[in-house]
Amino acid sequence: MASESVHGMWSSRLMFILAATGSAVGLGNIWRFPYMAGENGGGAFVLVYLGCIAIVGIPIMMAEILCGREGRQSPVNTMKALAARSGQSPAWESLGWLGAIAGFIILSFYGVIAGWAMAYIASVGAGDFVNTTAAEASAHFSNFTADAGLVVLWQTLFMVLTIFIVARGVDEGLEKAVKYMMPLLFLMLVVLLGYAMASGHFMEGLSFLFSFNIEKITADAVLMAMGQAFFTLSLGMGAIIAYGAYMPRDANILGTATIIAMLDTGVALMSGMVIFPLVFANGLEASAGPGLMFITLPIAFGQMEGGQIFGTLFFILVTFAALTSSISLVEPAVAWIVEKVKITRAQSAWLVGGLAWFVGLGSAFSFNIGSDITLFGDKTFFDTVDFLANNIMLPLGGMMACIFVGWLIDRRIPRDQLELSEGVFNVWQFLIRYVSPVAVFIIFVMSVFPELLKF
Ligand code: TRP
Repeated sequence: MASESVHGMWSSRLMFILAATGSAVGLGNIWRFPYMAGENGGGAFVLVYLGCIAIVGIPIMMAEILCGREGRQSPVNTMKALAARSGQSPAWESLGWLGAIAGFIILSFYGVIAGWAMAYIASVGAGDFVNTTAAEASAHFSNFTADAGLVVLWQTLFMVLTIFIVARGVDEGLEKAVKYMMPLLFLMLVVLLGYAMASGHFMEGLSFLFSFNIEKITADAVLMAMGQAFFTLSLGMGAIIAYGAYMPRDANILGTATIIAMLDTGVALMSGMVIFPLVFANGLEASAGPGLMFITLPIAFGQMEGGQIFGTLFFILVTFAALTSSISLVEPAVAWIVEKVKITRAQSAWLVGGLAWFVGLGSAFSFNIGSDITLFGDKTFFDTVDFLANNIMLPLGGMMACIFVGWLIDRRIPRDQLELSEGVFNVWQFLIRYVSPVAVFIIFVMSVFPELLKF
């Protein structure tokens, strides 16, 4: 098969690591992980989450990278080619499709939340939260999300930035973006960590994140931890297949996947170590749910010395993290269209990004003019697409990837791509054949039929 992709290549293994880590590190790490840990009692949740990353996350990430690097095309065409070479049904192409659609759907609402984070750069920077009270901060958030025009404005800005980067291509767009944004992101995180340490409540935050309390591990917490492990590593939708297609041949897949998973987990834990000490220093609640980042944290910054500057920095960090993720959500579909209909990459990026923006309006309006419109049961549009993508499409994609790579693919491909010793290869194969698909199947069934949890 081709040794290079027509879309371009990462110039080194490091650039692949930065790009894949950029995809992995996003709203999932900074917004979702801390509030989930907060709601599920801290340490116990963190431990289960770490287990899921190691046992399910890394093996599936390896499977996605190896498919991508073998196929060197968009996930749809990669799956098509690999299925043909392995003597399997051409219907496996649908794994690529499912992924491209899931990515598109995630992107639609991801752009809305990322837009909120961008808006907060402006409002925290302008000092809107200086000495704010809890009631004011929560009113600020509800007034902001209730303003359809404003929300759409920020969503549009974020989507335009995303499209801009993807339109410029793998080398000039994606690689340049991650090359500058990722090191800056780490730097900002370290600065904020120092700020959290100075808050005087650092140890309290640490013990919340790491003190382990076995009674807190409920079936629900295990499910959430597993779902989060999937989402945070960008698995199940082909983003990593797409990025793997641009990966140099000489980079080792096990080592690379492990580094990416460790960096991603490191950022999630560090975000928790920034957020919780600030929350405790101001006597606030750790279990605030999704509002943790947009309500609780601004209150904390508003009450602290230097909070205006460090709070602004925090939301810049979130925006960078979201941007290096959103580009990986568009890439599979953009690459596929370029292969298929011979329009330019820029046209393809504007087309896919524009459509995702349009669909995203449904999510933007779920918090204001469209809050009464409900689909499935009592779910708003936002809740519906979130559920559809995260609870149905990603696990389904992950399970299909396990079955295809674990059982059906021409066995020479994983051996040849992974270049592992016999023993290590067998461990990986055992995980991808039995452990990961069963684990993912369980989360899938449980999240679609939550009644089953109440035995
Ligand atoms: N991993 C990103 C985050 O944690 C989100 C993301 C980017 C993603 N690409 C993805 C999630 C692909 C699932 C699939 O915010």
